[in-house]
Amino acid sequence: MTVVPTGDARASEGGDVADVLNHYYYPPDRLRVVRGEGIYLYDADGRRYLDCASGTFNLTLGYSHPEIVETIRAQASDLIHVTSKFQSGPVNALVSRLAEIAPAGLTRVHLKSASGSDANESAIKIAQHHTGNPDVITLFRGHLGQTMGMINASGAAFRRAPFPVQLPGVVHVPDPYCLRCFYKQERATCGLLCVERIHDFIDYASSGRVAAVVLEPISGNGGNILPPEGYLQALRELCDERGILLVFDEIQTGFGRTGHMFASDTFGVSPHMLTFGKGLGGSGMPIAGILTEERLTGLAGHHINATFGGNVLAASAAVKTIEIISRPGFLENVRTVGAHVMARLREMAAKVPFLGDVRGAGLMIGVEIVDAEGRPDPRLTNHLAELGVEHGLLLRTSLYGFGNVLKVRPALIMTLAEADEMCDLLERLFWAAAS
Ligand SMILES: Cc1ncc(COP(=O)(O)O)c(C=O)c1O
Repeated sequence: MTVVPTGDARASEGGDVADVLNHYYYPPDRLRVVRGEGIYLYDADGRRYLDCASGTFNLTLGYSHPEIVETIRAQASDLIHVTSKFQSGPVNALVSRLAEIAPAGLTRVHLKSASGSDANESAIKIAQHHTGNPDVITLFRGHLGQTMGMINASGAAFRRAPFPVQLPGVVHVPDPYCLRCFYKQERATCGLLCVERIHDFIDYASSGRVAAVVLEPISGNGGNILPPEGYLQALRELCDERGILLVFDEIQTGFGRTGHMFASDTFGVSPHMLTFGKGLGGSGMPIAGILTEERLTGLAGHHINATFGGNVLAASAAVKTIEIISRPGFLENVRTVGAHVMARLREMAAKVPFLGDVRGAGLMIGVEIVDAEGRPDPRLTNHLAELGVEHGLLLRTSLYGFGNVLKVRPALIMTLAEADEMCDLLERLFWAAAS
């Protein structure tokens, strides 16, 4: 990594770096970025980094995609923002495109959220309002956001630990992490016990009045955990049987990440509601929202109605993003490149002692880092992410599980040649750490 030493006055935009750093509430990373293009980021010294995490898994089209840049330029001179109370061309176009590409049964578009966290909170409000029930079921290791409500809805105690006040009525249940099954079952014989047990959680651990089950179809920050075959179908059946609304948080998985427009398409299961954010912005424009079934309308006015929600400039970028993702060959490329990366990572895992399970769908890939006994090794995982920077790689690690998964989620525009470059760099990094 290019270190900008404290006291280095090169940060002309911010004056003395040491002084600037003293004013951040949070400590920023040492990397001082000046430019991004495609899958690469460039620092102040002109060093290039291949971003394996596409920002925060949100740059579906990579850094500063030229068509997004052009769209934003053109739209900005007409209208950047107007209160979401009014219609505008870009927002109307976005609502219409989202309704067209939505998983079966989802006909209504709510666009007033400013972030994924508040989209999830709004979905829970809709579920509570519609069912009249207070409780929400979520999964261990799930990540649903970082607002006050969502830290409790998420499945990691460390996020809640510092705060005395939390959202009541959340029941956390074991996730379908087959490799390290909570119930110590084998998939071939388990009969999806993890779904069956949710009935017990509803009957004995909840208030008995559950509004929604909210989960990521692939647990992203939890460790890139894919649901076993039949899991999401079984969950949908459980929800239908018990009058509970199933909400998919597709904030990471949406808009092509899994090789289909939504993970709902990848797994062939539609939820009653779907939240989205991140990738819809293409090259990072902030936009988030909810898709719902027709019957779930009726809460207008009580939703989160964020000032920046339904932003016109972001909507124009989102329409362009959907257009690009929908072009012939785009999603096929995600599937082909994703399969290639997984195959190469599996080849590496056969040789490099600390590489464990490699799993994923499309370009949502995770690699477990393990010790000699196959146990999660979060220390080595963090070391690899740190060392990666010296090898020109930006890597992110799973936070919510054992912290031992390297997340490989590059921009969806990645070519096979770029995928090979990434894999070559990863291989070099792994051997450097192994020696
Ligand atoms: C699956 C998932 N849900 C919700 C969120 C929260 O989104 P935001 O950061 O836009 O509030 C995130 C963000 O990392 C996420 O990955």
